[in-house]
Amino acid sequence: MSTVRKAVIPAAGWGTRFLPFTKSVPKEMLPIIDRPAIQYIVEEAVAAGIEDILIITSPYKKAIEDHFDRTIELEGLLADGGKEVEAEQVRAIADLAEIHTIRQGQALGLGHAVGMARRHVGDEPFAVLLGDDMMHPSSPLLRDMIGATEERDTSTIALMRVPKEDVSLYGSAAVEPIEGAEPLVAVRGLVEKPRSEDAPSDLAVIGRYVFTAEIFEHIERTAPGKGGEIQLTDAMATLAAGSGVNGWVFEGGRYDVGNKVDYLRAILDLGSERDDIRPGLMRVVRDFVEREGLE
Ligand code: G1P
Repeated sequence: MSTVRKAVIPAAGWGTRFLPFTKSVPKEMLPIIDRPAIQYIVEEAVAAGIEDILIITSPYKKAIEDHFDRTIELEGLLADGGKEVEAEQVRAIADLAEIHTIRQGQALGLGHAVGMARRHVGDEPFAVLLGDDMMHPSSPLLRDMIGATEERDTSTIALMRVPKEDVSLYGSAAVEPIEGAEPLVAVRGLVEKPRSEDAPSDLAVIGRYVFTAEIFEHIERTAPGKGGEIQLTDAMATLAAGSGVNGWVFEGGRYDVGNKVDYLRAILDLGSERDDIRPGLMRVVRDFVEREGLE
């Protein structure tokens, strides 16, 4: 049994769903209150026991590298001004984990991006976290998936039931139960973004994966698929047909922060859980509900 110590965060996409904001700012830097979305993703990985994170970036994503780096000048300024708490907050981000970045020179697809991690990851099992999918900080999903992968030495992917009209937005999985292992299921087939009438089920692939290193061989053999891109889902399909892939079916706790309304829901939910935000936020929500006649 090998331990999952490393994670890969693909962050090279254009973020077209959030234009014009994403014209000059990476979508991963969208703020959820006072932290960029990608910081929550990194914190989730660290909370699940990850020590080493590789972020796959692109030429327009310098802000991500800066965010996880030290800012000695700012730290000094804050400390000199007596703002010790803020100085520590800024410094702590750089100590969250050992963070590495490499650039995906060409947008050849999610499978290609993950394939770029091969040399860094080596032969170990590793996690992949997609930045658009944010989990509530209390969600045990990644830790559970890591546990399942370590226990069974088999890759585990996150699956969630979605409404029929949404299945074409995701990878879709055909599954069979594994007796006594619920919510773990055996994945029998995978299709990237099928038409809803062609989808094998309403179980969608959500952006958390824990792979054995075997996935890399499958990525290398994967030809461009949907949209002309090397799809991670296609590589997972051949892995599933070979030595196998399991799915972890979960409910709730996920925000699609690439979706504008779900992004606002994430801010409301997380804001309502913070002592410094809650009172003011509740006043705003109460006034809003009253004004809009939603009671
Ligand atoms: C990607 C994957 C898809 C998965 C989805 C989860 O799609 O290709 O299989 O279901 O993430 O968020 P994207 O949302 O990047 O288009």
